Amino acid sequence: MSDKNKSVAEHIDDRNSWYVGEQKEQLADSGTREIVERRWEIIEHVIIKKNRSLKDRTKIRVLDAGCGDGNNLFGLKKIAKKLNLELSLFAIDYNPLRIKRVVGNKLSENICCASLLQLPFQEQLFDVIICNHVLEHIPEFMEALGELHRVLKKDGLLLLGVPNEGCFLGRLRNNYIQRSILRHTDHVNFFNSNTLVARAVESGFKVDKLFRFGFFTPYTYLHMMLMKIGFLRRLLFYIGEVFPSQCGDLQLMLLREK
Ligand SMILES: C[S@@+](CC[C@H](N)C(=O)[O-])C[C@H]1O[C@@H](n2cnc3c(N)ncnc32)[C@H](O)[C@@H]1O
Repeated sequence: MSDKNKSVAEHIDDRNSWYVGEQKEQLADSGTREIVERRWEIIEHVIIKKNRSLKDRTKIRVLDAGCGDGNNLFGLKKIAKKLNLELSLFAIDYNPLRIKRVVGNKLSENICCASLLQLPFQEQLFDVIICNHVLEHIPEFMEALGELHRVLKKDGLLLLGVPNEGCFLGRLRNNYIQRSILRHTDHVNFFNSNTLVARAVESGFKVDKLFRFGFFTPYTYLHMMLMKIGFLRRLLFYIGEVFPSQCGDLQLMLLREK
C-alpha cells in the first residue's frame, strides 16, 4: 500500500518517524528551539492583540488545531504567565499518540483526538486559533480552513503557519537539489506567501499581518548544520530578512470579519 493511503494507526504501527517522533526534541536543539521561540513571539503578539480588543476581562479561549506533542501549548502557558492572563486552552490532533503525550504533560485540560476536517466544536467558540505546520499535511486543506473559519468567533484571530516550501528555493530543493524529499515527505501542499494568502482570503478571512522568518536553505543537512551554530544561525535569519520571499517560515495572522 502506498504510504499516502495508510491510516494514522497504520503509520503508528509502522513506527513512521513523522507520526511517532518526539517533537519536544525541537526544544532541546539550539537551532530548532530558536525557530520555535520566534514562533512563540508571534503567538504572544496575537494574544496581546486579542486581549486589547476584548471589552470584558473574560478568559481568552484558544484552540491549538493540530497541536502535535504540544510545543505551542507549552509556549502559550509561558505567555499566559508572562502577561498575567487567563487563557482557556483547547487542543486537537488526529494522532492519538500525540494526544496521549499532551495529556501526559498536562498541557491542556480540553484535549481531544479529532480531525481538522470535522472539528468537534460548536460554531464561533474560539477567540484565537493557532494552526501551525498542519495545513501542508492535509489534501482537503480548503475544507480544514472552512472548519477553522466556522469555529472561530466573529472578530477572532487565526494564526496560520506553514513552511515556505513553495518559494523559489523550496522548489529548487525539492525538484532539483534534493529530490529524495518528494519521495519521503508527508507534505501534500507546498505553499508560498501568495498561495497561502489567496487560499485564506477565498476561505473568508481578512489578512491582518504576514510574518516571515528564517531562511530557506535549499539543502536540509546544510541547513541543520548552519542552524546549530549561533552566529551562522543569526546570519541565516538576517539573509531571510534581506530576501523575505525566500524565508523559511510563514505565519499569517487572519481575522474573521463576519
Ligand atoms: C508538523 S506537526 C506540527 C505540530 C504542532 N502544530 C507544532 O507546531 O509543533 C503536524 C501535526 O498535524 C497533525 N495533523 C495532520 N493532519 C491532521 C488532520 N487532518 N487533523 C488533525 N491533525 C492533523 C499531525 O498529527 C501532527 O501532529
